Amino acid sequence: MAHTLQAIRGMNDILPTDTPLWAGIETIMRNLLNRYGYQEMRVPLLESTELFKRSIGEVTDIVEKEMYTFNDRNGDSLTLRPEATAGFVRAGIQHGLLHNQTQRLWCMGPMFRYEKPQKGRSRQFHQLNVEAFGLTGPDIDAEMIGLTARLWRELGLTGVHLQLNSLGSAESRSAYRDHLIHYFEKHYEQLDADSRNRLYRNPLRILDSKNPQMAELIAAAPLLIDHIDAASASHFEDLRARLDQVGIPYTLNPRLVRGLDYYNRTVFEWVGDHLGAQNTFCGGGRYDGLVAHLGGRSTPGIGFAIGLERLVLIAAASGLDKLSAHSPQAYLIMVGSRAEQQGMALAERLRDQLPRLRLTINCGGGSLKNQFKRADRSGAHYALVLGDDELASGKIGVKPLRHTEPQHALAEAALVDLLRQIST
Ligand code: HAM
Repeated sequence: MAHTLQAIRGMNDILPTDTPLWAGIETIMRNLLNRYGYQEMRVPLLESTELFKRSIGEVTDIVEKEMYTFNDRNGDSLTLRPEATAGFVRAGIQHGLLHNQTQRLWCMGPMFRYEKPQKGRSRQFHQLNVEAFGLTGPDIDAEMIGLTARLWRELGLTGVHLQLNSLGSAESRSAYRDHLIHYFEKHYEQLDADSRNRLYRNPLRILDSKNPQMAELIAAAPLLIDHIDAASASHFEDLRARLDQVGIPYTLNPRLVRGLDYYNRTVFEWVGDHLGAQNTFCGGGRYDGLVAHLGGRSTPGIGFAIGLERLVLIAAASGLDKLSAHSPQAYLIMVGSRAEQQGMALAERLRDQLPRLRLTINCGGGSLKNQFKRADRSGAHYALVLGDDELASGKIGVKPLRHTEPQHALAEAALVDLLRQIST
């Protein structure tokens, strides 16, 4: 017997019972971004492998272990995007959107990382990615964080917290790098294989090791925030004052370094109480050097990404039911081929007149009893009935399904009035 085909491990189907929550959240996000003046830009799922190596960094978990990389038929190395920032910068340079301009952009879609699947972690996952280019000051940092805070409020999320840090400039980071190497050299025996491998290549990445046996050693390591340059420190102070002013609480987390190499200055993450081990559901920061690093003219950037799977988990745990599935308001039952023909036309007239009406028509025939069962299962409030009697009288049968009123017959105009009342 042939085996049943299954989805690839870590690549999840999002079933119709869940899509209303996803779609509801997506609508709220799109509206909010529109209100803040952000524009949508869509970039490809596939990019050259080189792009991700150069932007995310060669010595990172993503590039070393997690990318879906393959050669295409032409022998070119391509990678399914593990994140969207690199693609945005590539597209921005390619289309001349960045130099001497201000851009506020977003995209939504799937990302791919070969990680170990667990709650809140999959191999295909979805992000809302938001980026701003051409702005150096802390005002845009505050705007971005404010936008996320408003989004959680509008979604009614509970148990979410902001963590903040500054990574300083590239130069101050390189001085810090030396301190870090010195510190970890002194404790070389305690380093795991990954960390030994990274010690001289990218010691900062040791700090986001997920190995619990490394936790104590990492906790005692020198802090980056103690080594940042004066300009970055004042940028950070200004950002904090702005957050205080608009009343967005945060925790300073000097251990927050993010897992990608392109960041400088402000970095932030939102963590959720409802999530368990994978508790970061939104993360981002500044990347003022990335555009120049990828060959464009120097342009500052800042952005963040929200992990939608994790956001949906928090939304569900916060009791977000107002976005739940919408059943049809009416289900049209048609008995006989003449009724089916006339019913289709009736349904189209109702849809013309009542653009908000959710109407399902019965397809696939069936007895009256059978169709009533389907109408009931659909969750509709009313069954509309077209059979021989109704065709003869020129009226439509109306049977409330959620209380015990008897069926009655209405002329089409009266039916439109009734449905108008329930479909606003
Ligand atoms: P990231 O921290 O790698 O940042 O990912 C952002 C978010 O994507 C995470 O906080 C998490 O919610 C979600 N995420 C990541 N990996 C997975 C996974 N395997 N399964 C489910 N969710 C996941 C970035 O990607 C940066 N590009 C963000 C950014 C934009 N920075 C500046 N601009």
